[in-house]
Amino acid sequence: MAADQTVSRAPPALSAKVVGSFAYLTIRDRLPTILTKVIDTIHRNKNKFFEEYGEEGIKAEKQTISLLSKLRNELQTDKPVLELTDGLQDTESWNQYLQRHQMLHEDQDSVSWFKSPWLYVECYMYRRIQEALWLNPPISDYDYFNEGKTQGYFESTQAVIALCTYLEGVKKNIEELSKTQLFEHFYKLLQVSLWGNKCDLSISAGQENSQKISPIDSLNSLQPFILVDDSNMVWSTLMSAQRPGQSGKTAADRVDIVLDNAGFELVTDLVLADFLVSSGLVRQIHFHGKSIPWFVSDVTANDFQWTIRQTMAANHKWMSKSGFHWQSYLKEGVWLYHDHPFWTQPHEFCDMAADAPELYATLQRADLLLFKGDLNYRKLTGDREWDHTVGFDTALRGFGPAPLCSLRTLKANVQVGLQPGQGEKLTSQDPSWMTNGKYAVIQFSNPKTE
Ligand code: F6P
Ligand code: MG
Repeated sequence: MAADQTVSRAPPALSAKVVGSFAYLTIRDRLPTILTKVIDTIHRNKNKFFEEYGEEGIKAEKQTISLLSKLRNELQTDKPVLELTDGLQDTESWNQYLQRHQMLHEDQDSVSWFKSPWLYVECYMYRRIQEALWLNPPISDYDYFNEGKTQGYFESTQAVIALCTYLEGVKKNIEELSKTQLFEHFYKLLQVSLWGNKCDLSISAGQENSQKISPIDSLNSLQPFILVDDSNMVWSTLMSAQRPGQSGKTAADRVDIVLDNAGFELVTDLVLADFLVSSGLVRQIHFHGKSIPWFVSDVTANDFQWTIRQTMAANHKWMSKSGFHWQSYLKEGVWLYHDHPFWTQPHEFCDMAADAPELYATLQRADLLLFKGDLNYRKLTGDREWDHTVGFDTALRGFGPAPLCSLRTLKANVQVGLQPGQGEKLTSQDPSWMTNGKYAVIQFSNPKTE
């Protein structure tokens, strides 16, 4: 949809304010740290750019660093948020979005870093980093977060081995398992994928944050930290989507996973997806990743392929076997990977039907949507200061292309769907419960039953 329609549309009616209180701290502390690391990474790779592109590469490195240093100054000194100038597919849409904010800021001259919604400026910073690279062509495709993502994967090797060994064990006699047994494995792997979301690098500003112990063994001790657990409803949705296919076998047609982080979290998602298809519960899995380096550790197409190749190449029987299965699912079209610019824009998901109708239509074909991680939750709920007892359906404000479930560890100041008093109790026991990544939700919504 044309971006001008984004601007002319009135913002959705809201009863809750956008999250702002936490913004100042992250903008002042965490975002400059992330940006400084990007500058350092690009500088350290100067020789690589020289080897690949000669003097052009060195020139591009210098110019990119100069743009990024300027960006750091803008964000640290509360300068106005500027229009993008790189003329990419989504540039116009970003600039229209900025104008929309400018219209809401009637009392101010311009939208600035500290005075804008946290979600918006945080997304904007990652897009501006990408702009600095795009404006310097020979190094445009360089992924400045790649080192951290690959390191995160290697540091989780023992946990990946434990998980792949569990998976291959389950698959040995999967056809003989009863529905109850299938549910038990499904529930375990859903929780593993949930807790995989602890391993994100943007909350730690790029510091090592990988999974060290067996993810299956730690599930029992983590259970009390799941604040909302709708896994029964997720399972019922899968069960009611079982239909005979061309082969005569019964299965749900399609589950879509909107991915979050690379490294261990991605492996947990692939393992869950493998279980869903190898158990015959689902015929096809569609993965959705990011088209630019995003929030330090989010999955790009390159990370997705790399992770599967690396798992295939592992020096461990079950781990490499899992990798080979994943590769063949992709080859056979049982698994599909997509990206779309909407995932790397600041829009709340209730805007998707109007601003990215083709993506919305794609998601409508799913029997179930799994949204991984904290940023997706913020976009699902509009990053508002909702009362904790407000229903998840209410906070979605009409977003519901298909039954959906958020698998999220809490890292930001938004949480809905709690019991009366639950939020207050948590605040008294653990004041930073919403941001310390210790708690999680498996939260479900079915637009068809609303
Ligand atoms: O807490 C910092 C932060 O960057 C949040 O802004 C963001 O929501 C989150 O980390 C990213 O977490 P996830 O990888 O789970 O989306
Ligand atoms: Mg992330």
